[in-house]
Amino acid sequence: MRGIAGVGLCVLSVTLSLSPLAAQAPTATAQTKLVIKVPEPDSELYIEGRPTKTTGVNREFETPNLEAGKTYEYDFKVSWRPNNYTVLTRTRSVQFQAGDSITVDLTKDVGTEKAIIRYVPTPNDIVDKMIALAKLKKDDVTFELGCGDARISVAAVKAGAKKAVGIDLDPERIEEAKATVKAAGVTDRVEIRKGDALDVKDLSEASVVFLYMGNEFNALVRPTLWKQLQPGSRVVSHRFTMGDWKPDQTIKVTGEDGDQYELHIWTVTDAVKKMGK
Ligand SMILES: C[S@@+](CC[C@H](N)C(=O)[O-])C[C@H]1O[C@@H](n2cnc3c(N)ncnc32)[C@H](O)[C@@H]1O
Repeated sequence: MRGIAGVGLCVLSVTLSLSPLAAQAPTATAQTKLVIKVPEPDSELYIEGRPTKTTGVNREFETPNLEAGKTYEYDFKVSWRPNNYTVLTRTRSVQFQAGDSITVDLTKDVGTEKAIIRYVPTPNDIVDKMIALAKLKKDDVTFELGCGDARISVAAVKAGAKKAVGIDLDPERIEEAKATVKAAGVTDRVEIRKGDALDVKDLSEASVVFLYMGNEFNALVRPTLWKQLQPGSRVVSHRFTMGDWKPDQTIKVTGEDGDQYELHIWTVTDAVKKMGK
């Protein structure tokens, strides 16, 4: 373990064993100055998997002494919380030559952004409103991205959809979802999958997508919805919107708990699909 002192810059403790090349006895060495731009002053930044301590939107570091003339690759990860229910993460691998000065801009998504949303279930009476808004038909295949305990997916097949797929990345939710499906006696028509809903490859199978995930997640999944869903498919979202893709309809309902709820529905059309191109 060998840390290094930054020269008038923030200190980054990085072991030389991070890179196989760095383990060789260097004949001449050079440090690389890193400027990392992050989305928020309090974003958490990891370099080569190690947490860093400084704050601000521009963070400066120096690498340890590296072998002059050699190429290195460092992994950067930033995560931040745009609200109290969403964690966004971006990653980047950057190659540089020892002695370079490099800037790594993590303020823009280059296709690596991930979103994790906290579990808050949709109340059952609001689930019923979402199902009614979707106007399910017997050939519909529904996908619930971030399914929690799968109450919407179960309600979808009970309302007549042919099949429902619920996806969640939290193992605890997956267990709950499987239990809900079993208790409802619909294991033959509801599939529960563990995984990141932003990595779903077969969304083209869906004719209805249910969401209760946050504006940030919706913005990330929107290009996939436009690309993969067939014209005529519907997207139904509890509360959260889709940026400048305006819903066909928004309804406001008062729940049995007395709270106000907003539900939105969009229909994918040929024109909508072209918006993604
Ligand atoms: C707000 S809850 C909604 C649950 C359910 N759809 C409902 O309306 O009752 C969000 C759910 O999405 C899951 N989740 C969050 N981020 C996810 C992601 N990137 N991929 C898959 N599931 C995710 C959480 O574990 C949680 O169960």
